[in-house]
Amino acid sequence: MGRLGDRGQRWREALRHDYAGVMVDVRDALFQLAWLVAAGADEAVLDVPADRFRRIDAEAERQPGALPPSPGSKPPSEGPAAPLVPDPISRANELAASCNSLEALRAALEAFEGCPLKTAAKSTVFADGIAGAKILCIGEAPGAEEDKAGKPFVGRAGQLLDRMLAAIGLSRQQNVYITNVLNWRPPGNRVPSPEEAAICLPFLRRHIELAAPELIILLGGTAVRHVSGRTDGILRLRGTWLEYFAAGKMVPMMPTLHPAYLLRQPAQKRLAWHDLQEIRARIHALGLADTNLSN
Ligand code: URA
Repeated sequence: MGRLGDRGQRWREALRHDYAGVMVDVRDALFQLAWLVAAGADEAVLDVPADRFRRIDAEAERQPGALPPSPGSKPPSEGPAAPLVPDPISRANELAASCNSLEALRAALEAFEGCPLKTAAKSTVFADGIAGAKILCIGEAPGAEEDKAGKPFVGRAGQLLDRMLAAIGLSRQQNVYITNVLNWRPPGNRVPSPEEAAICLPFLRRHIELAAPELIILLGGTAVRHVSGRTDGILRLRGTWLEYFAAGKMVPMMPTLHPAYLLRQPAQKRLAWHDLQEIRARIHALGLADTNLSN
């Protein structure tokens, strides 16, 4: 081989790495990573990569009549963690019912291991604003910023929410309490699954009872679906009052468009503006405006 050939060979060698027993060309790996990023992947969900092909092999090995694993073969790598709590919804119900204060509820959520989302999240996002305020906003789930900060609605959508509230004289510093249906960030900000929501709902219901709001603002379709049980789309339900019963008392709920949706569809802000006017009128009709709106 000539000099150029040797150098080319050395480059090729330098670009090949032994990764857990598999020789990988760094350029291929980078190309695949760039492809994943372009497809929208923004984080690794597990600390170690999950080899799904190996998992399929492992399933096959469990079939009756399958050959035993060959000597020296590696055990299957871990897939997503199995729930650590056998019946997480019942456990969530028991725990939530046993909490008699918002602080106890926060501590119970922080100790709860029944929601698989928690394994990938940095924080348990409980609430922000004035605990006990008469106005409660409920969103969907924490995003990346909220996961970092441990507080709901601190990213761009949160800033828009603050402006929306300010337009009708509300603010989380004075008279609004804010939480989400989910207390942990779904990886990549995907819509939470019905199972994940069902595990978090007992905590949310107890959260509403303990916070005892007099008016609830539902932000977006996920909050509407899980809090009200209504399955019609948000564009159909927004702007019409719904009812929530907490501790035998009816609390009016207004579904409106999620601020993250409004950032993507600014032309829809006029619909949200209409909903905000409805909320302002109801606050006055209920006499909530005469106080500082806090219990
Ligand atoms: N979107 C939500 O629904 N909740 C948050 O906390 C942030 C963004």
